[in-house]
Amino acid sequence: MNALMAQTHSKILSGKDFLTMKETTSKEISALLELAQNIKAKLHAGEEYKPLTGKTLGMIFEKSSTRTRVSFEVGMLQLGGNALFLSSNDLQIGRGEPISDTAKVLSEYIDGIMIRTFEHEKIMELAENASIPVINGLTDLAHPSQVMADFLTILELKGKLTGLKMSYIGDGNNVANSLMVGCAKMGMNFSLGCPEGYKPDEEIVAYAKGVAAENNCEVVVTTSAVEAIKDADIVYSDVWTSMGQELENSIRLEAFKSYQINGELVKHAKKDYIFMHCLPAHREEEVTAEVIDGPNSVVFHQAGNRLHAQKALLVDLLS
Ligand code: CP
Ligand code: NVA
Repeated sequence: MNALMAQTHSKILSGKDFLTMKETTSKEISALLELAQNIKAKLHAGEEYKPLTGKTLGMIFEKSSTRTRVSFEVGMLQLGGNALFLSSNDLQIGRGEPISDTAKVLSEYIDGIMIRTFEHEKIMELAENASIPVINGLTDLAHPSQVMADFLTILELKGKLTGLKMSYIGDGNNVANSLMVGCAKMGMNFSLGCPEGYKPDEEIVAYAKGVAAENNCEVVVTTSAVEAIKDADIVYSDVWTSMGQELENSIRLEAFKSYQINGELVKHAKKDYIFMHCLPAHREEEVTAEVIDGPNSVVFHQAGNRLHAQKALLVDLLS
């Protein structure tokens, strides 16, 4: 066997799947980030690293994607494997085949599944019925693979996670849920500013607050954007209207209009704050061009890290 193919590492994730930050321990998050840094360094050094030779990842998409699709596909190719893009429009699940049957069938052919879908229950059913690992590429509830890339970016730029303050201004959505739980696990203060009626799921907030209390940090949810952003090391934003909520767009534009991240609001953050956004962004809605295209913005570095953080997940789960 080729020495490169024989490269192994001890398994990090205790479960077979990667579905939420809640199910991932802080130890596992740290170890995955370290693995991601090693894998990124190998790529930049031009070192060949193909531990997934002969492996195939199926990527089911029920919603659009640029970053998730391309970074998972390129990640598999760089690791020596293959990736199949499976649009739900073309699969039989689009015509009513049960997700449980789909899980069992795909388990016969491939080595892992990445899925982007609507209801979180769907990914849970897929994972329960698949004998192969399932990775969350975004559900209405969570976007944990995004958060792994975000943490890698913060580590690279700030040198640590613990003790920093992340301020998320905007909708209490899938990205907010995963950031909030992830920050609490890593000892980062997390402050979310959003209008009444758009707060994150109460159960998730309560869980994150409990985790934060154990880790000497704080989770705060407030309707004041100024309070939320005060002294932030990281200012984070996402769209006001997520995929699947398009019919609510005009109501949301109105509800969120005083939660825009602009030159005035960021004056309350630390001078050396970094601006992050999972992308795609809507300039002059959740963030002004002045901020997202300004000197504190790291959004393209962050998007680039989707590749490296996800390669760590793929190596851990599929090899
Ligand atoms: N951030 C993110 O998940 O981007 P895509 O929707 O383009 O995959
Ligand atoms: N909250 C957004 C994230 C997109 C990456 C959505 O779900 O559409």
